[in-house]
Amino acid sequence: MDTINLSKKEFNDLKNLVYSTSGINLHEGKLELLKSKIAKRMRLTNKSYKDYLKYLNSNQKEMIEFIDTMTTNHSFFFRENKNIEYIINQFNRHPQKRTKEFKIWCAACSTGDEPYTVALQLKNLGLSFSILATDLSHTVLDIAAKGIYKKEKISRVPIPILHQFFQKGTGKYTGHLKIKKEISQHVTFKKFNLVTDMPPPTTFDVVLCRNVMIYFDIETSEKVINKLYQTINPNGFFAIGNAESLLNLRHKYKSIKKIPSLYTK
Ligand SMILES: C[S@@+](CC[C@H](N)C(=O)[O-])C[C@H]1O[C@@H](n2cnc3c(N)ncnc32)[C@H](O)[C@@H]1O
Repeated sequence: MDTINLSKKEFNDLKNLVYSTSGINLHEGKLELLKSKIAKRMRLTNKSYKDYLKYLNSNQKEMIEFIDTMTTNHSFFFRENKNIEYIINQFNRHPQKRTKEFKIWCAACSTGDEPYTVALQLKNLGLSFSILATDLSHTVLDIAAKGIYKKEKISRVPIPILHQFFQKGTGKYTGHLKIKKEISQHVTFKKFNLVTDMPPPTTFDVVLCRNVMIYFDIETSEKVINKLYQTINPNGFFAIGNAESLLNLRHKYKSIKKIPSLYTK
């Protein structure tokens, strides 16, 4: 395989391409990461380095695959569950909880771990709900729709919930667990780019946008959170990741005391 010697111009061109299409901000420290992703795409397309760069710049399909490869999709069930738990407890105290359908949008859902984590807890309380789960990457959305996970990813799922809502894999899925239909039927997976797409024409009781703004700069984060603001019902919730903050961003969200990373409209 060719050595990948990215010139400053090539690095900047790719950085701009990734930024304008996904909002992902590749600073200079990400050079090695970028090289490894290019190497992966070169292997899969069977192209030399120079040919690959030409191909990438002239082929829309490859551009989508390249951006998909640039995403970081780390996620697991019951990750940073404090803000989700708080929201669910509030729903459970809602005066119309027996008749209301709670509407949730997981706006960077990765492999589905996050929306299913919400669904498991709402189902466990017998509440009605529907979840829209979106991501930029079609690769993770395919995994999410299958709902099959390695045991490590679900190690934090409380045992009674695990027994009730997962089934054991057999054959090539030995060592995996599959989320049951009674949970997955409440979740709709769709491709959605937080930076370039218009938000859906509906509104939600909660929007989760967790652990994706860490890849964005201030300008992009500000645009994204204000775009999402329009889709939240009055008094609805907005959750971000524990490593993220709205501190330096202009916005209208109100923070919730004692629950970090959680806001209301
Ligand atoms: C680290 S995962 C976070 C998953 C989950 N929210 C969590 O907290 O565990 C970040 C996800 O954001 C997605 N992403 C990155 N840029 C995006 C964009 N512009 N629009 C939508 N999703 C994006 C990635 O594909 C990835 O799946």
